[in-house]
Amino acid sequence: MSEKKASNQMWGGRFASGPSAVMEAINASIGFDRKLYAEDIRGSLAHAAMLAKTGILSAEDSEKIARGLNTISSKMDEGRFEFSKRLEDIHMNIEAALAELIGPAAGRLHTARSRNDQVAVDFRLWVKEETQRVAAALQALIAVLLDRAEEHAQTVMPGFTHLQSAQPVTFGHHLMAYVEMFGRDLWRVRDAIERMDESPLGAAALAGTGFPIDRHMTAKELGFREPTRNSIDSVSDRDFALEFLALASIAGVHLSRMAEEIVIWSTPQFGFVRLSDSFSTGSSIMPQKKNPDAAELVRAKTGRLNGHLVALLTVMKGLPLAYSKDMQEDKEAVFDAAETLDLMLAAMTGMIGDLVVNEAAMKKAAGAGYSTATDLADWLVREAGLPFREAHHVTGRAVALAEDKRCGLEKLPLAELQAIHPAITDDVYSVLSVRNSVRSRTSFGGTAPSEVRRQIRYWRKRLKQGARPGKVR
Ligand code: ARG
Repeated sequence: MSEKKASNQMWGGRFASGPSAVMEAINASIGFDRKLYAEDIRGSLAHAAMLAKTGILSAEDSEKIARGLNTISSKMDEGRFEFSKRLEDIHMNIEAALAELIGPAAGRLHTARSRNDQVAVDFRLWVKEETQRVAAALQALIAVLLDRAEEHAQTVMPGFTHLQSAQPVTFGHHLMAYVEMFGRDLWRVRDAIERMDESPLGAAALAGTGFPIDRHMTAKELGFREPTRNSIDSVSDRDFALEFLALASIAGVHLSRMAEEIVIWSTPQFGFVRLSDSFSTGSSIMPQKKNPDAAELVRAKTGRLNGHLVALLTVMKGLPLAYSKDMQEDKEAVFDAAETLDLMLAAMTGMIGDLVVNEAAMKKAAGAGYSTATDLADWLVREAGLPFREAHHVTGRAVALAEDKRCGLEKLPLAELQAIHPAITDDVYSVLSVRNSVRSRTSFGGTAPSEVRRQIRYWRKRLKQGARPGKVR
């Protein structure tokens, strides 16, 4: 491709000399927006076909343009295209290549169009497709979580508050908490897709155009639900990108919490899970070590996602309508967030799928720390008619006694329990075991295996119907 040192081909009439090197460096986006080449060509093909259909362009020129664009597209697919920094961005790189291929007809493609609506449509197409990829990746993660939750619907483990043993729960229930989180992420993703599903093509620079274009035709051709309704808004907002970054950040926060739990659970001190070799590394100096690097990196990469969201929010804040070059800064944030999130989701799906669960260690820990104390208090309310506050007090004394004797609540002799409160009977032991504690929590959304299995069935159906709640049958 020709790179004249002199005036720019596109606005050469107005500028006498080429841009300085610094100007070129700060202005050029081709280093990253080349990622949009397929979307740019799709947009141009749709635009050219529309121009011909509406009689703005001859059928002959339109066909020439389409052939040229397809040639450029294959060249790019095969990595044989030479991108030029002097041509600034992907739009001008492609237009210049087209002119070289087909001559003056290429100059007609930009009729009733501006780079402002061109970049808006390219980027929306890209973000929409990426968001669909995220939806699929979330579905895959949820599917693995549901399988593991079903497998462990009655595996007991300690439930924590303040990272202190609180009450026994099942591992299946704990995993289902993440299904709820990633399920909401998926729902958020679907909502975002619906909002970004409008085509800005035809908004032109900002005011629309006097040419008799058909924006509904290009919207349909590009797979959008409909065209956008305000040409100024079409070229000046990037909330679809912000929404993508926001949903990525929120999903990232969920992923990082799960990653942190995997890090904790896989320590020798906890020993709840073992990571497969494919998702851990060894130490170069300490032979006994197995490090949860993938989980740590999922935890860490959330920082990048949050950073990108704040970066673009800051770029967009206070921008006057309509287009400003500031908005060119939208792409790198989104591209990196997309790549990062895709990787995090894949790594988490792999780790969860391979996780080896140590049921014995979980069970042992589940009974530690007087985790069934609430069950004792509840028993006193239910069976002995005590007010909950008094039951709480009585239970506190039983815990103190067990601490004294260095034993579990279930090991306290009946006589000693009765010395604390005379209404206690032999029946109390039925609630002091971890298994019975868990089994008794049958409230809707509770940790009882029967309830966990019900929620698993619900989510399997809900996923089949898309992620929204609605009527799940
Ligand atoms: N590279 C530009 C961007 O990404 C394309 C739009 C340029 N429009 C303009 N009026 N200079 O935002």
